[in-house]
Amino acid sequence: MCSTAVYPGSFDPITNGHIDLLERALKIFDNVIVAVATNPSKESLFSTEERLEMIKDSLAHHPLKNRVKVDLFQGLLVDYVQSIPAKAIIRGLRAISDFEYEFQMALMNRKLSADIETAFIMTGMRWIYISSRIIKEVVRSGGDVSGLVPDIVEKKLTERLAGLSKNSLC
Ligand code: PNS
Repeated sequence: MCSTAVYPGSFDPITNGHIDLLERALKIFDNVIVAVATNPSKESLFSTEERLEMIKDSLAHHPLKNRVKVDLFQGLLVDYVQSIPAKAIIRGLRAISDFEYEFQMALMNRKLSADIETAFIMTGMRWIYISSRIIKEVVRSGGDVSGLVPDIVEKKLTERLAGLSKNSLC
């Protein structure tokens, strides 16, 4: 029987750290669903559809792409995981600072659905200091993020954030 895990997140936007984590998850699970959260209360730079498209484009030539599905979900993560059905949620850990939030979320998800386990995977050392938030901050200030995000994401970030700064001058 195939094992399937769900890798949820905001992915605003996907980074090379996320892709590293996905590759590590594929060493454990046969298939991984990258699930982009649709959360109207959380402000994001890219729409859910744009985030989904960027993930698909970033993985288009990936050797493991046939074992990955990219999807959107709304509402409770555990409901989505059950609807697949999958048994595990993948989350990445970079530093101790991630732990408190991740611990809280994993235990809440366990309370909501005792059958679903959260598997934490340590990100590769190369990506330990990057996050979508810090990538956006750097691009917004004109910094170079090449090699930290897929090329397509770098292009979209530059277009979007250059557009924002142009607008702010009007
Ligand atoms: O990349 P992020 O922003 O850290 O991902 C957080 C995400 C989307 C995984 C989390 O907010 C989530 O699961 N949202 C869905 C709503 C839900 O199920 N909440 C209860 C668990 S805390």
